[in-house]
Amino acid sequence: MFICVCHAVTDSAIRQAVGEGANSFRDLSFSTGCGTQCGSCVKLAREVMDAALTGQGSPKSAVKLQLMASNS
Ligand code: FES
Repeated sequence: MFICVCHAVTDSAIRQAVGEGANSFRDLSFSTGCGTQCGSCVKLAREVMDAALTGQGSPKSAVKLQLMASNS
């Protein structure tokens, strides 16, 4: 699922960046470009990143977005 449309960053790419050592939103932005253009993805990107950092699955809002996308 795309989290950052401006830079085509997916939730998988965010988890991969975390796995490669990104542990702050600055790191994530630097490595992927996420959140550096319009900024509308920042809240969800942070949630995905926080979930990855804490070893949780997808954040609740991401799951909700996936359900909305699959129903449309
Ligand atoms: S959607 Fe991520 S910067 Fe625009």
